[in-house]
Parts: sequence; structure tokens; C-alpha cells
Amino acid sequence: MGISFKNVDHYYPGVKRKEYTIALENINLDINEKNEFIAIVGKTGSGKSTLMQHMNALMLPTKGTVQIFDDIITPKKNKNPKLKSVRKRVGFVFQFPEYQLFEETVLKDIMFAPLNFGFTKEEAEAKAKEVAKLLGIEKILNKSPFNLSGGQMRKAAIAGILSYDPDILLLDEPTRGLDPKGAKDIMELFYNIHKQTGKTIILITHDMDIVYQYATRVVVLNESYINYDGNKEDLFKTNLYNENHLVKPNVLQLIDYLNEKLGYSIDYNTYTLEDLIEKLKEVSNNG
Ligand SMILES: Nc1ncnc2c1ncn2[C@@H]1O[C@H](COP(=O)(O)OP(=O)(O)OP(=O)(O)O)[C@@H](O)[C@H]1O
Ligand SMILES: [Mg+2]
Repeated sequence: MGISFKNVDHYYPGVKRKEYTIALENINLDINEKNEFIAIVGKTGSGKSTLMQHMNALMLPTKGTVQIFDDIITPKKNKNPKLKSVRKRVGFVFQFPEYQLFEETVLKDIMFAPLNFGFTKEEAEAKAKEVAKLLGIEKILNKSPFNLSGGQMRKAAIAGILSYDPDILLLDEPTRGLDPKGAKDIMELFYNIHKQTGKTIILITHDMDIVYQYATRVVVLNESYINYDGNKEDLFKTNLYNENHLVKPNVLQLIDYLNEKLGYSIDYNTYTLEDLIEKLKEVSNNG
């Protein structure tokens, strides 16, 4: 098992004493250390980022336990294991990357984690340059991370995580702030990493097209509890997506129209517009 939540609650303290916000309620969730591509979705404020921050012990549960590989995280701070190995194995790209960047230059920022995890300076620099190239940010390596655009900051933060090769990747809205082509490239990059290495990827997104194209499992949060945990096809076949403040992926809206109004019978195992076009070509060739 990679990550396992047992009866986890999380409360945030309020301004006044005895006042608090319930952000997570009775979460039970098992995530394999390999081969999962999980999308966490749900309305704004439903608890997605809070849930993800428990997955590498950035936050402690108020009640319950979170097991992360061999370490068990409990509500009591001083009972928790040394977190370095958890952080090495589970890499986290924050929702707001500007909180994550802090060094003088992008290069130093990307090198920081590998150095911290025991890479030599030469190894860290080589790795930083390699991932920068992968993300197409080699030209900004000597700039200050604070003088970047939102999209560049996001890529720098992603590079900082890929640089030390964690086993599980946590991505809180990784495509936020990127232009459409940049967003597609980044998703393809994560998908290829997942395919080639079998690394488990857990991503939070509001983009149902991304969910439908890439996820192998969808976890839906609704007002702090898990309301659905299963495959993406079933989520969108019933009204469940609607009840959870989600919209249908574009490809499925189009398929519904083709099936209901134009007499086609295209199934929901069609994950992108390109897939749909291929299926329509087949139909017109056979008809
Ligand atoms: N630092 C904090 N202090 C107090 N309450 C917080 C804090 N962070 C989040 N909350 C509250 O906890 C709940 C869950 O917030 P969270 O950020 O996990 O939601 P989210 O699903 O990630 O939302 P979004 O889609 O907008 O990013 C919300 O009610 C939010 O107001
Ligand atoms: Mg969030």
C-alpha cells in the first residue's frame, strides 16, 4: 500500500475559540503505490487541497491516521516519524507555486530538494538541467523565481519535484495558469511518466476533460466527505456528477447529442475528441 487513510477528520481552527471549519470528515481511502492515476474533484472548498496535504504529512489529521508507505501519521505531532523519507517518496506540487519557490535563481530552486536528499552538487545540477529541458524552461534557469509569469512559476515548481524522482506525485491543479498548449504538454508529460515508470499520480483539477482523458480512478469530495470513488465512466453515466457540482466532459456532451438527436450509438469509452472523430470516421466508412 502506498497511502492509506483511516477515519480521518481535519478541522481548521477558527478566529474565535471553539470555532472551527470541518474540512475533512471520516475519510477512508487506499491508494496503491504503483499504477494509479487518480483525479480528485469537487466543488471549490470541498476539501481537495486539505486532503492532498495529508498525503505527504504537510498536514496532520485532527482524528484518525494516515499511513504513507511505512510511516503512520497521527494527530500528535511528537509521535510522528521523521518526515524526510515521506517527503522523498511523495512529491507535492502546490496549488500556489509561489509559496513553494524561494531560492535566488530557478536553477538553485530546482537543485534544492535533490541536494537536501543527498545528491552531490554535480548530480543535482545535472538533474535540474535535465528536468528543466523536459519542461521547456532551460532559458529561465538563471532568473529569479519571483520574476516569472504564473505559468513559468508552475513549471519551475514542477521541475523542483521531478528533480528528485519521488515514487508518488501529488499535483494540486497542475495546469492552472498555463496556456492551452502548455497545459496539454504538461499533462502529456505526467501521463508519459506514469506510463513509463508506473508511478502513481494523484491530481486535483476542475477540468473534466483532463479527468476523462487521463484518470483511471476518480475521487469526488462533497462538503468534506468522499461521495464517490470509482471509475470515470460510471460517474458521468448517472446524475452523480451533477449532484456534485461537476460538468460533463465535452466529448461526452457531444456523444449525448449524437446519440440522442442524430441516432448514433457511440459508447462512453471514448475519451477525447480525437477518439470520437476516429469512431465517426469508422461509422461513415461502414455506412
Ligand atoms: N488555512 C485555513 N484555515 C481555515 N480554514 C481553511 C484553511 N484552508 C482551507 N480552509 C477551509 O477548509 C475547507 C476546505 O478547503 P480546501 O482548500 O481544502 O478546498 P479545495 O477543495 O481545495 O477548494 P478549491 O477548489 O477552491 O481549491 C474550506 O471550507 C476552506 O474555507
Ligand atoms: Mg484547493
